[in-house]
Amino acid sequence: MIQPPKIYVAGHRGMVGSAIMRQLLAQGHPVERIVTRTHAELDLTDQAAVCNFFAAVKPDQVYLAAAKVGGIHANQTYPAEFIYQNLMIQANIIDAAFRNGVQKLLFLGSSCIYPKLVSQCLREDALLTGTLEPTNEPYAIAKIAGIKLCESYNRQYGESHGVDYRSVMPTNLYGPGDNYHPENSHVIPALIRRFHEAKVNHAPSVTIWGTGTPRREFLYVEDMAAACVHVMNLSRTTYNHHTKPMLSHINIGSGQDITIQKLAEAVSKTVGYQGEIAFDPAKPDGTPRKLMDSSRINALGWQAKIGLNEGLGMTYEDFLNNTHTHEGIRND
Ligand SMILES: NC(=O)c1ccc[n+]([C@@H]2O[C@H](COP(=O)([O-])OP(=O)(O)OC[C@H]3O[C@@H](n4cnc5c(N)ncnc54)[C@H](OP(=O)(O)O)[C@@H]3O)[C@@H](O)[C@H]2O)c1
Repeated sequence: MIQPPKIYVAGHRGMVGSAIMRQLLAQGHPVERIVTRTHAELDLTDQAAVCNFFAAVKPDQVYLAAAKVGGIHANQTYPAEFIYQNLMIQANIIDAAFRNGVQKLLFLGSSCIYPKLVSQCLREDALLTGTLEPTNEPYAIAKIAGIKLCESYNRQYGESHGVDYRSVMPTNLYGPGDNYHPENSHVIPALIRRFHEAKVNHAPSVTIWGTGTPRREFLYVEDMAAACVHVMNLSRTTYNHHTKPMLSHINIGSGQDITIQKLAEAVSKTVGYQGEIAFDPAKPDGTPRKLMDSSRINALGWQAKIGLNEGLGMTYEDFLNNTHTHEGIRND
């Protein structure tokens, strides 16, 4: 009998990696055919350790969802860590995967790979057409290098070794397992935490960074995980038909954007906060608009299913279940 593929999910404790695990299991993939290592067990920036791991485990497929991630503040405070660790993690995994016969790998990038001032929806071919948003440029450069690593291995070893490494670029994600750190988190978990604390403490107002006018797109993480498995399982012919050897990444978005102000109002309503919402225009806004063109993934048969209000409700429930203790809210 043919065994199901042995799948290594790198970053399985993270928000996206854990959602990919849930998705694989929900689709009936046997748990004993999924391999994981915690950060403590395997530091993915350690090339020798990654090589030894791949040589010992010999996975058939890899979901590369391990990365150093964070919001504007973390990116600005730790630029060296963001570029170095992400370059190392992806280079180590992709090369070790190749050297150990892995033919199928999915690399997770981010919408920040696109130039800052693209006025239209971000299409895949906007890559490398302009200057990046400076606040997270080092992280974005690492992610662009990850796409190019996948493409280069495909171009050099696709024919000879059957290498088929794919990249997906998620828009801003949110959902269960997010990081609610007060300074190092993304916008939705940061807003959930702030509005929740304001509600509990009966604070009269909550002040949000920036003007509230930038538009952002959000995707619920379970939708993202479904997209990852979908893209991994596309036939090579189908994937190649919709991509090019040097333009191979696929955007994954909900197709809808919203202003930060409207988002703050939606989060405030979900949390049940009754006070005022104020904005601090002295703080940076970042890119004015970020909506991805997801027509490529839509044409490949995937659509987002979970709307923002439904997703926010489930995320707040997760926040309450996992981080809200009688002593307060965990910082880790
Ligand atoms: N979240 C988003 O909104 C979003 C949007 C677009 C793209 N993405 C992409 O999706 C991927 C996953 O993001 P995420 O939100 O799931 O991040 P996350 O929750 O921070 O998870 C990342 C995982 O990687 C692990 N990791 C980091 N450095 C490691 C190392 N040196 N060795 C071993 N493990 C390491 C982390 O373990 P520790 O916590 O123990 O360090 C964590 O489990 C990333 O590539 C990210 O760029 C995310």
